[in-house]
Amino acid sequence: MKYMLRFLASGLMLVLFSQLSIAQVGFPKIFENAAVVSATQEASEAGIEIIQKGGNAIDAAVAVKFALAVTFPAAGNIGGGGFMVIRSADGNVSTLDFRETAPAAAHRDMYLDEDGEVIDRLSTFGHLASGVPGTVDGMITALEKYGTLPLDVVMEPAIRLARDGFRLSWREAGTLTRNRNRFSEFEGTKMYFTKSDGEDFVEGELFIQTDLANTLQRIADNGRDGFYAGETADLLVAEMESGGGIISHEDLANYRSVWREPIEVTYRDYTMHLMGPPSSGGIAIGQMLNKLEPYNLKRLGYNTPETIHLVAEVSRRVYADRAEFLGDPDFYDVPAGGLLDKGYNRDRMRTFNPSRASSSAEVSHGEPRMVKESDNTTHFSVVDKAGNAVSLTTTLNSGFGSFVTVTGGGFLMNNEMDDFSVKSGVPNQFGLIGGEANEVEPGKRMLSSMTPSIVTKDGQLHMLLGTPGGSTIMTTVLQVFLNIAEYGMNAQQAVAAPRFHHQWLPDQLYHEPFTFNRATQERLEWLGHDLNQRRFYTGQANCIVIKEDGTMETGADPRGMNYAAGF
Ligand code: DON
Repeated sequence: MKYMLRFLASGLMLVLFSQLSIAQVGFPKIFENAAVVSATQEASEAGIEIIQKGGNAIDAAVAVKFALAVTFPAAGNIGGGGFMVIRSADGNVSTLDFRETAPAAAHRDMYLDEDGEVIDRLSTFGHLASGVPGTVDGMITALEKYGTLPLDVVMEPAIRLARDGFRLSWREAGTLTRNRNRFSEFEGTKMYFTKSDGEDFVEGELFIQTDLANTLQRIADNGRDGFYAGETADLLVAEMESGGGIISHEDLANYRSVWREPIEVTYRDYTMHLMGPPSSGGIAIGQMLNKLEPYNLKRLGYNTPETIHLVAEVSRRVYADRAEFLGDPDFYDVPAGGLLDKGYNRDRMRTFNPSRASSSAEVSHGEPRMVKESDNTTHFSVVDKAGNAVSLTTTLNSGFGSFVTVTGGGFLMNNEMDDFSVKSGVPNQFGLIGGEANEVEPGKRMLSSMTPSIVTKDGQLHMLLGTPGGSTIMTTVLQVFLNIAEYGMNAQQAVAAPRFHHQWLPDQLYHEPFTFNRATQERLEWLGHDLNQRRFYTGQANCIVIKEDGTMETGADPRGMNYAAGF
């Protein structure tokens, strides 16, 4: 009896905790004129400062991006890349790819030893892990096309935050302190991100980055050439040469961001505007929604075993296609049209059994129509009163990227080369596998999962969403979207709600702590799923919902220090 009571009490606590954790953080901030949700308070406020100076959402997004490079070193970056979806007030949607590229000296087997085995950490840590950074070119390209303010004006908050410093949050202080040993492996990183007295960083401490401020100033003064040429380029190439890296002056000079054809997917009354390859995000979300549309998710219920099973089986099939068909469209013919075809996606669900999990060993990629297509990790969202909107996901890949900081330049370099398939069938750090479509080639962009998204409903701007999280990005974006579109959550509840994930291989159904109650877990196991409760939370989704009265409802993921600013 005693054990029974204890069991019931702990069950009740679990249920209460999971409900409370949603309810307590479920109150969105609502703004009328402009809203920014990003990973740090300083960056969100930088965006609002620019809008209050008369800038639009694109000006603000560039300001946020550079401010994140200062206040969120783990991912903010000028040494990385990303993707940006822009919807201007007239309804025109553009998508900008500022993904990193493989240096000219890169080659398919560069991460393998003489026996053809993958060399541990070579694609994730140190100088050889970096692709040619795209962020600075991307920001300038977007600003030139859609911005209204000069580059030096939108960069002013970031330069100020670097030069005068900003106060470390408890989380940032902890992250920097915890990584001390890894930072110390590289001279520049040790100099900038550890304390000379070996002490811990503390909450509230002023963090000043003078070399980074100088680099940002060179960009503000000289535009592209402030990064891809002159002193910054010299420092970057010298850093590469000092540690066996291969990024050259020529690689930097040749880097260009690319406007890509947006992916447009309809789901009931909604249209999602998404990033096409070399991000796999748009096609994956499109495939998932096309597979889910025939089902009545409302009737199946929020996070019931039936819904989770269905979504997991959908994801399994989509990730199997990703591994086979997705890569840089400039190097590989991605059959985007075939993959997004509603009939193809419905066919792929013929093997779905509502009462039994499939086995990933038996589910392979499909056979989409192979027509020749035209060539074609932190997330933030910005919207202004006129209705201009920017959804942007950017990253160094894993936290602090390659851990190499350009000495004298003060900025961290990415480890994005690991997003290539360094050997066919061998999983990358997110457990994703790939083959020919995503093998390393000079100048090629590595496949991404980043999924910045803008959603319209009946032709009106309705949602901006996205998240970091590597392979889990697409399933997180899908769940945040469904939480709002199908389950009526507000923006804050939608990003706070617990999440689950299936990516075909490994054949496991991941979930966050407190995602499933016991009965749900048992039912899913009964259906044949191998459950794996993650120690860490999944993603940090940031979202804005534009309500019918024009107000902007924000969702800042409580899994991090994400912050909604506005007025
Ligand atoms: O482009 C990608 O898919 C990865 N480089 C994203 C990495 C990421 O989201 C890391 N964050 N947790």
